[in-house]
Amino acid sequence: MSTSNLFTSLKIGDLNINNRMVMAPMTRNRAGDGNSPQGMNIEYYRQRASAGLIITEASQVSAEGVGYPGTPGIYDEKQVAGWQKVTQAVHEEGGHIYLQLWFCGRISHPDLLPENQTPVAPSALKPEGEAITLDGMKAFVEPRALEINEIETIVRQYKNAAEMAKKSGFDGVEIHAANGYLIDQFLRDGSNKRTDSYGGSDENRMRFLNQVIDVVLEVWDSRSVGIRLTPENSFNSMSDSDPQAHFSYFISRLNTRDLAYLHILEGDMMSAARNVDYRALRDAYYGIYIANNGYDYERGQQAIANGDCDLVAFGIPFLANPDLVYRYKNKLPLNEANQATFYGGNETGYIDYPTAVEKTAATA
Ligand SMILES: Cc1cc2nc3c(=O)[nH]c(=O)nc-3n(C[C@H](O)[C@H](O)[C@H](O)COP(=O)(O)O)c2cc1C
Repeated sequence: MSTSNLFTSLKIGDLNINNRMVMAPMTRNRAGDGNSPQGMNIEYYRQRASAGLIITEASQVSAEGVGYPGTPGIYDEKQVAGWQKVTQAVHEEGGHIYLQLWFCGRISHPDLLPENQTPVAPSALKPEGEAITLDGMKAFVEPRALEINEIETIVRQYKNAAEMAKKSGFDGVEIHAANGYLIDQFLRDGSNKRTDSYGGSDENRMRFLNQVIDVVLEVWDSRSVGIRLTPENSFNSMSDSDPQAHFSYFISRLNTRDLAYLHILEGDMMSAARNVDYRALRDAYYGIYIANNGYDYERGQQAIANGDCDLVAFGIPFLANPDLVYRYKNKLPLNEANQATFYGGNETGYIDYPTAVEKTAATA
């Protein structure tokens, strides 16, 4: 049992965070020209700055890393200028913010990529489903298996992005190694059929992630770098033959890195299934563990009290409730999230969710 709860402070690296409520990374497809954060993005994050820690929406490390329309990048000066305004706004409100580093790999489409390139992946395996393009949904295409020298190029893109994130004023970065994007495509054996030094054994499937961590740690102190993993999330056509064993190995290697935290999306975003023993993974990790997926106030408090996690990341609850911390503290009802405005669009369904105080004022 732990004496902590959702409202207890915690030290992550050099950061003193006010509470254990993390805003989970959420793609909202509302970046401005040049995939740069714009005014409404600044306001969105500012509104949610009472979270102990915000993890931004996934941000592609290069133009080749993109997989959806309207997602922000973290690879050029214009994007840095946009992000600087976001980090400044969150810091002015006393909050803390990490940027999520992303490369989509096979979850993309030639329509979205420079010169209509074919998406890349560890292996030429087409995911089930459809990509979201500017002309609507289109079937995924068969990706091209990366050559070794191309993997090195992508690793360098992560280093540039880590530098750009530092310049943007973030408190740290989260390496997105989850949800069926490129790093996860290497980690899980359903999508990685390589026979070279990047496939086969656990060590080989983790090689790309380890190389990404190496370059990010050339830029950031290890205690400012988090990792997100999804052992059994089937989203984006993912599978693995033995997630418990494979992710136990990955976590044992992450233990040697002295990172800010390990962030796990437990179970599956597509179903209620939970076939992995997350308590065992949490116990195998020596550092700070963030639990996510389907938590609410009661489950979050319970998980922290049980010692099942150190922090809880909330996605949709923060999307629809900018003042989620205040509401949970005061046991107030939540706004309902509008799924129709999750991805893309304008300010509606983005920065117009009222706080509890605003709601009361409006009905008084
Ligand atoms: C609109 C939306 C966008 C998301 N985008 C991302 C993302 O960019 N990166 C990521 O790692 N997870 C992403 N996720 C997953 C969330 O971070 C989170 O894992 C999921 O919503 C489950 O948590 P919840 O039940 O608290 O909402 C997204 C989820 C939603 C609903």
